[in-house]
Amino acid sequence: MIIDGKREAEIIRSELKKEISDLKSKTNKTPILTVILIGEFAPSKIYVKNKERSALEVGINSRIIKYPENVSEKEVLIKIEELNKDKNVSGILVQLPLPKQIKKEKVINAIDPSKDVDGFHPINVGNLSSGYKSIVPCTPLGCLLLIKKVEKSLSGKHAVIIGRSNLNGKPMAQLLLQENCTVTIVHSKTKNLQHECLKADILVAAAGKPNLVRKDWVQDNAIVIDVGINKVGEKIVGDVNFDELKEKTKAITPVPGGVGPMTIACLLRNTLECFKAHQL
Ligand code: GUN
Repeated sequence: MIIDGKREAEIIRSELKKEISDLKSKTNKTPILTVILIGEFAPSKIYVKNKERSALEVGINSRIIKYPENVSEKEVLIKIEELNKDKNVSGILVQLPLPKQIKKEKVINAIDPSKDVDGFHPINVGNLSSGYKSIVPCTPLGCLLLIKKVEKSLSGKHAVIIGRSNLNGKPMAQLLLQENCTVTIVHSKTKNLQHECLKADILVAAAGKPNLVRKDWVQDNAIVIDVGINKVGEKIVGDVNFDELKEKTKAITPVPGGVGPMTIACLLRNTLECFKAHQL
């Protein structure tokens, strides 16, 4: 089975659109997502454009604040402070990566955790790892929703996650632990990657390495979720060799059209959650 992330994301977006429209008729207010984009990194510009387009489509107003590559950290922190105080702003997202004069940690820490639509603030990270209510990072949340479309109960399943980033691997592990999976995180220093991956009922590949996962790395009937977005020549490919695995697995996400659209749908969902929390 090939998991159609594009279709699942469409379903989420149409539900969000309806809820946002209902809320608008009740409150006369619309969620606003503010995105800070620094510099000229081409993939970031594309991602931000896509986020804006999708937001508008579901009725979320989107504002992009652009800075040149050499903007000072202070100027960005002052802007975040202003957005934190602005009652009309529901969500704040600072597109990563950042230029080297700006510390990611400082910027993430400056965002009001209740407007942190990425779920990267330490308060949200801590709440997630404690199993409390939190804003959940969009990509791992999207992956979990896709996995649960295939398998309702994940209890006792062995999940292997390739990659230990704060954006993907770590929050993915927390979500799967909450689903009662046995979770292994493997990474660049893991001794025998293939051996660990072969234990997986659920394999999430978020390593950023094209073609890393081959057919002899997964057991039959595994669920394989490919988070990778790698440019190889003019083509976008994942971390998984899709053609080799598609016949063998129980379910697999393609790239593009798998996790990517779900990330954006979950960002919109998080923005609506932040908006609702601020209306209470
Ligand atoms: N850069 C790549 N992915 C992401 C993401 O999910 N959020 C932010 N803020 N920046 C990114």
